[in-house]
Amino acid sequence: MTAPKKLYIKTYGCQMNVYDSERMAEALGASGYVETGSPDDADMILLNTCHIREKAAEKVYSELGRFRDLKDAKPDLKIGVAGCVAQAEGEEILRRQPMVDLVVGPQSYHRLPEMEAKAGKGVKALDTDFPEEDKFERLKSRPKAKRGPTAFLTVQEGCDKFCAFCVVPYTRGSEVSRPASRVLAEAQDLVERGVRELTLLGQNVNAYHGASDTGEMTLARLIRELAKIDGLERIRFTTSHPNDMDDDLIAAHGEVEKLMPYLHLPVQSGSDRVLKAMNRKHTAESYLRLIERIRAARPDILISGDFIVGFPDETEEDFSQTMALVEAVEYGQCYSFKYSTRPGTPAAERAQVDEAAKDDRLQRLQALLRDQQVAVQDRMVGKEVGVLFEKPGREAGQMVGKSDHLHSVFVEGEGLSPGDLRKVRITRSASNSLAGTLL
Ligand code: 5AD
Ligand code: SF4
Repeated sequence: MTAPKKLYIKTYGCQMNVYDSERMAEALGASGYVETGSPDDADMILLNTCHIREKAAEKVYSELGRFRDLKDAKPDLKIGVAGCVAQAEGEEILRRQPMVDLVVGPQSYHRLPEMEAKAGKGVKALDTDFPEEDKFERLKSRPKAKRGPTAFLTVQEGCDKFCAFCVVPYTRGSEVSRPASRVLAEAQDLVERGVRELTLLGQNVNAYHGASDTGEMTLARLIRELAKIDGLERIRFTTSHPNDMDDDLIAAHGEVEKLMPYLHLPVQSGSDRVLKAMNRKHTAESYLRLIERIRAARPDILISGDFIVGFPDETEEDFSQTMALVEAVEYGQCYSFKYSTRPGTPAAERAQVDEAAKDDRLQRLQALLRDQQVAVQDRMVGKEVGVLFEKPGREAGQMVGKSDHLHSVFVEGEGLSPGDLRKVRITRSASNSLAGTLL
């Protein structure tokens, strides 16, 4: 029997890439690969890349540079680039890094095994098409191995919104939803293998409109169907656009017990002038009203967001409106970035804000967001929350898991196992986590 070949996958960027990497590893498993945690003994290295900001894209080239010695020492080593940099740069990657054997865009992963076979014959392979088929259906399914208690599940991909700063509509293509029956079958299968919490993924997950036997399904209806699966205890979804938060989805937050009280709802800026220039198609006021309606349906919901500072032409006055919006919302979690010019997007052509101003604004925004995050976390002390335990903590006898609101919670608990969902009283708030006792 020949020894299995070893596959090293490095994943950058968003949770969808994490899901894609799992599926690619499974597909290549059928071609005789097992995963390894180190590039040094790999027969194939696959970088699953992110193109959202310039730094993320540049990392890929520096990482590839590091693999040159490995390739020199082992000419059979195959090196592949997948993900959004593969989609955006295509052949340019093969030109800049001739040691790369295959380049595969996010919509072509089902062709990966055949590309791998081609690369084995010394032929370079490039596929950045947007085929009209569900790649996940064509990918070999997950082997029936046992899984940890949490999993991602992609239900929707791509984006038709064309925010002026964003590469996603170009790298992931237009919005496509997977049929509800396939999502439900995959969820059922994951639950049978030990998963108790599912995070539904999509670039515009709340624009989900998958086909079903009873016509098109919305995300809210899909969540209500998933909630019927015995053994599935928790449902989350990300990322949502404010304009796609329909009434039923808002209501679901109050009605579906398994739907967790956490919502990632990026707004990007608090200035209407900037929002318009970003092509967001909503205002700061409409976003605040929306948050009010969501909080009316689920008062304890934790709101998370994304912000960009230093978008072309953003003034100090625009920025102060962003700070005011943050004050009004009170975020429990947030991600904030300096605007990064992405070639081919409309904003790349506009007057850029100087770097020092971007740095200064980012620091001020992050200080405010950090204070809010700490305040929201501190307020959990004394409360009773559900915790899904995932793994042992740093100290003996300790287990760590995620609360309903996605805080990390440490608990001393003999006899607790990964996958246990228990009620916990929060007793202490530390820098990035909570501590509690079992009820
Ligand atoms: N520059 C900075 N941040 C960006 N994002 C998307 N495109 C850019 C860009 N060009 C941020 C947005 C988005 C998150 C995933 O990344 O805030 O919500
Ligand atoms: Fe990018 Fe805007 Fe689409 Fe989000 S909604 S993926 S930020 S274009």
